[in-house]
Amino acid sequence: MKVTVVGAGHVGATTAQRIAERSIADVYLVDIVEGLATGKALDLAEAAPLVGHSSVITGGTEYDPAEGSDVVVVTAGVARKPGMSRDDLLTTNGRIVSGIIEEIARVAPNAIIIMVTNPLDVTTHIAMEVSGHSRERVMGMAGALDTARFRAFIGMELGCSPVDVQAMVLGGHGDSMVPLASSATVGGVPITQLIDPERLEEIVQRTRDGGAEIVGLLKTGSAFYAPSAGVTDMVASILRDEGRIMPASVFLQGEYGIEDTFVGVPVRLGRGGVEHIIEVKLAEAELTALHASAAHVRETVDTWERLS
Ligand code: APR
Repeated sequence: MKVTVVGAGHVGATTAQRIAERSIADVYLVDIVEGLATGKALDLAEAAPLVGHSSVITGGTEYDPAEGSDVVVVTAGVARKPGMSRDDLLTTNGRIVSGIIEEIARVAPNAIIIMVTNPLDVTTHIAMEVSGHSRERVMGMAGALDTARFRAFIGMELGCSPVDVQAMVLGGHGDSMVPLASSATVGGVPITQLIDPERLEEIVQRTRDGGAEIVGLLKTGSAFYAPSAGVTDMVASILRDEGRIMPASVFLQGEYGIEDTFVGVPVRLGRGGVEHIIEVKLAEAELTALHASAAHVRETVDTWERLS
C-alpha cells in the first residue's frame, strides 16, 4: 500500500509519521519547498529502526513518485494566524489545491483523495471538480477531528477516558459545525444524564472554537496532532477495509435534504472510499443547524467560483 502526503508542514509530516509508525502503508511526502519533504522523510526513515516499523518513507518536490498511490492526503497550503477564520484562507489555498489535484489526477488517477487543507469543505469541492473523481473517492477530514475534540472535552469534564466517549459532530468545518450533544454517550450512558445543559452548551461551543483555541495559543500556526490523527484513522479504515463509521466531508446529493454540497456527515469508510452515507434521524434544531452549515459552505464555494 502506498500513501502520498502533499505538504510536509506540521499536519503533513505528522500524518506521514503516524501512517508509517502504524505500519499502514509506505509514504511519499511531497512539498514545494526544496529539501523539506526529502529531509523530513529521511529523518522519519532513520527513526524506523528505533520505533520498530518497516514502512518505506521517501520525499521530494516532484509528483511522479506519487504514481500508484492508493490514497493521497492533501495538507498543502497556508495555516491560520490568530484572528483569521478558515474562510480567510480561501483564495490562497484554493489555488494551491487546484494545482496539486491536477498533478495528482495525472500521476495517480486511481487514488482516493482525502483533503485536509482549509477551508476544508470548499477545498474538497475543488478537489472533486478538478480530479473528475466520483464522490466515493474524494472526501475531507474534519468530522474525525471535530468529533475527537468533542470527545476529549467531555472526557476532561467527566474525568474519564475520552476513548469511552461516543459522540458525533456534523456540518461544515467551521463556526457552523453541529456537535450532536443529544446522542453523545459515555460508556453507554447518555451525557445529558451526566452533564447539565448549560455546561454541555459550553462544551459544544468550545468544540466549535477548538481550532481557534489552538491557533490563539500557538500564534504562528494551527493544530496538527489531532488533525493528523484524524486523517490517519481515515486512511487506515480505507486501506485496511475496516468499515469504520465516522463523520467526513462528503458530497451530498439529496441526503439530509442537501444537494450538491460537501458537508460533514457520518459515513462508512472502506476500500472503495466512502462506501455508505449514513442518514441519522436528527432533531429539528440539529437538522436546521446542518442546513445552515451547508448553506454557508455553498456560499463559500460560490465565492470561490466567482474568484477563479
Ligand atoms: N505544493 C506543495 N506544498 C505546498 C504548496 C504547494 N503548491 N504550497 C504550500 N505547500 C506546503 C508548504 O511549503 C508547507 O510546508 O504546505 C505546507 C503547509 O504546512 P504548514 O504551514 O506547517 O501548515 P499545516 O499546519 O501543516 O496546515 C496545513 O492543513 O489544517 C489545515 O488549516 C490548515 O490549511 C492548513 C493545512
